[in-house]
Amino acid sequence: MEHNLSRRDWLKGGTALAGAILMGSRANAQSMTVPGFVPTPENPLRLGSNENPYGVSIAARQAIIDSFDTAHQYGRGSRRALTKVLAEMESVDEKNIIFSGGSGEILKTLGLITAVEGGSVLTADPTYHGLTRYAINRKVPIKRVPVNDTMTIDLDMLKAAYTDDVSIIYLVNPNNPLPTIMEKNKLKDFCLEMSKKCLVFIDEAYHEYVNNPDYETMVPLACSNENIVVARTASKIHGFAGVRLGIGYGSVKWLEKIREYMTGSASHLAISGAVASYQDTATQDFCRRKNQQSLKITYDLFDKHNVRYVKSNTNFVFFETGIDVNEVREKFRENGIIVGRPFPPYLNWCRVSMGKPEDMEYFSKIYEKIFI
Ligand SMILES: Cc1ncc(COP(=O)(O)O)c(C=O)c1O
Repeated sequence: MEHNLSRRDWLKGGTALAGAILMGSRANAQSMTVPGFVPTPENPLRLGSNENPYGVSIAARQAIIDSFDTAHQYGRGSRRALTKVLAEMESVDEKNIIFSGGSGEILKTLGLITAVEGGSVLTADPTYHGLTRYAINRKVPIKRVPVNDTMTIDLDMLKAAYTDDVSIIYLVNPNNPLPTIMEKNKLKDFCLEMSKKCLVFIDEAYHEYVNNPDYETMVPLACSNENIVVARTASKIHGFAGVRLGIGYGSVKWLEKIREYMTGSASHLAISGAVASYQDTATQDFCRRKNQQSLKITYDLFDKHNVRYVKSNTNFVFFETGIDVNEVREKFRENGIIVGRPFPPYLNWCRVSMGKPEDMEYFSKIYEKIFI
């Protein structure tokens, strides 16, 4: 079949053909925008893993296809090109950037470093489990500081909880599963003060979705200080969750250590795709715009029914269910929707990832069927 799909078709959110091509095939299509798609427990709407429902952009797909020409060779790829693109984008030096097979690899590597070299991890609760779960399995002690009443990571409490055995402070900004941010000046001061004592590691997986004047990336700080590292991922706004590309920003000292311990690497295909994707700002803008539309549909639903929820700086919303989230998950699954897993201690709350606006309309319909 001739895949003559223009950027305009894609941006319009398009035709059945566009939908089918974007999703690979009809059989894989999991969006209400694809004609004929009926969500079932076996082939559900995926609103549980904070994926980008628009997938990999056209430009990135083409770049990945083109990169197959040299995919059989070691050491090939566009590492230099991607480093240059990102260094310019973030106004940092090229030596302060590394790549990994997804940012999860950097998280695990830092957990491994702590396990081998000693120390404990200080973090917030709840937060993303990638680093802590890996570290716990290697007997690393974890200290968790609960979020405050506004469900925000409490930097004062974290400071108070610091003890000399802490080797890494792991902070997710915006957080996950709570889509809240830390105030930029407070976070900057915290990073500068605490990085004199240990590594401060900021996970900015959802950076590209944030639209909040109180937020700021810590990438420039990481590249100009010895003990601050920032992880980013192409899995979210770039739709690379299955392609796998993570990015680390930090001092040469820390990046060398991570490189030394890391067991995987970013593939030539992922890096080549990312060169195109990171420069494709129109597609990123499109995804951000659609995400805002999906958030609005979801907020409207919860407002209409007086449901408590946490306003999002990401591509997911955290809302109160009032009943055990496992029960809620089962009911959504029966109706062809996957929502987020349980996040203790918020067992009567649920995380729902943003699909396309049409998907969130369907989510709203099923929510009302289950709860109202
Ligand atoms: C906060 C956070 N960090 C890291 C990751 C891992 O992302 P990846 O390994 O796909 O780059 C995720 C995935 O959902 C996440 O939510």
